[in-house]
Amino acid sequence: IQNIAVLTSGGDAPGMNAAIRAVVRACSFYNLKCTGVYRGYQGLIEADFEPLDARSVRNTINRGGTFLKSSRSEEFKTKEGRKKAYENLISNNIDALVVIGGDGTFTGGQLLSKEFKFPIVGIPATIDNDINGTDFTLGYDTALNTVVEAIDKIRDTASSHNRLFLVEVMGRDAGDIALNSGIGAGAEEILIPEENMGVERLIESLRKSKKSGKTSSIIVVAEGDKSGKNIFELAQYIEENMDEYEIRVSVLGHIQRGGSPSCFDRVLASKMGVGAVEALMDGKTEIMIGIDHQKVVHVDLLTAIKGEDKLDKELRRVADITSV
Ligand code: F6P
Repeated sequence: IQNIAVLTSGGDAPGMNAAIRAVVRACSFYNLKCTGVYRGYQGLIEADFEPLDARSVRNTINRGGTFLKSSRSEEFKTKEGRKKAYENLISNNIDALVVIGGDGTFTGGQLLSKEFKFPIVGIPATIDNDINGTDFTLGYDTALNTVVEAIDKIRDTASSHNRLFLVEVMGRDAGDIALNSGIGAGAEEILIPEENMGVERLIESLRKSKKSGKTSSIIVVAEGDKSGKNIFELAQYIEENMDEYEIRVSVLGHIQRGGSPSCFDRVLASKMGVGAVEALMDGKTEIMIGIDHQKVVHVDLLTAIKGEDKLDKELRRVADITSV
């Protein structure tokens, strides 16, 4: 292997730049060429390439987003799109690819690798933490800290006005952000996609905590919660069914995806980037670089995207006990 390309794809995540940097620097360390691909798989189809050297990635470890840009490419979902991408890789003398992203990114990478026997290694980067075979994905820790900081601020105003706040956090299919930030920020209730506690039980629990002397409350609601109501409908329902509180809604949205990565994410990105280049040099393909008890592990790409629910169930119990 002499020339490794690197791209970021799907929803961006803090730490992506640090991962690109580690890939580029590892290539430089091992005297390999490195090629940056702009705009994810779309850039691969359009040959939007730029050679990167160790100095191209200066001052990037601390920056949020991805300087290579990202996209969700519809064309890459077609075999013709992937063929164009493959041909561009070959005609630019690229012989391996590192893809940084979440499950959509790995699905595309796995197909490209299998169809054209092209070496591909993935680095898990998504604030959702919903990838199998790794304790953490890049960006998750930073997003959690952003969310907790935001909820701390909401708590100040909630408690000044004796209000109930519903705070929506990201996570279409995974409740990791909601459950962990909810515990970290001391939320009274946490609604996650993995389970539906039912609105009746929610109201009952809110009444109980009000009776126990609470004057304000915070409910963290994951974007994909299964109550069957969106956060505004949920707020209305609570308002209609209990008059103990004045209610407000706050949707945190994309601030959760931005910002300078935490030190944890920077170190994780550095380990994973080096791990990806070394795996390719060892002849590995169709794998993801995961972290298991601080050690770099290789996980089959198909296993990584299996979509199993890896939420730590113990956290639900802890949340219930500490919010009493
Ligand atoms: O997968 C990351 C994520 O931020 C999810 O939590 C969220 O549901 C989704 O991306 C939002 O995607 P977009 O930025 O395309 O609206």
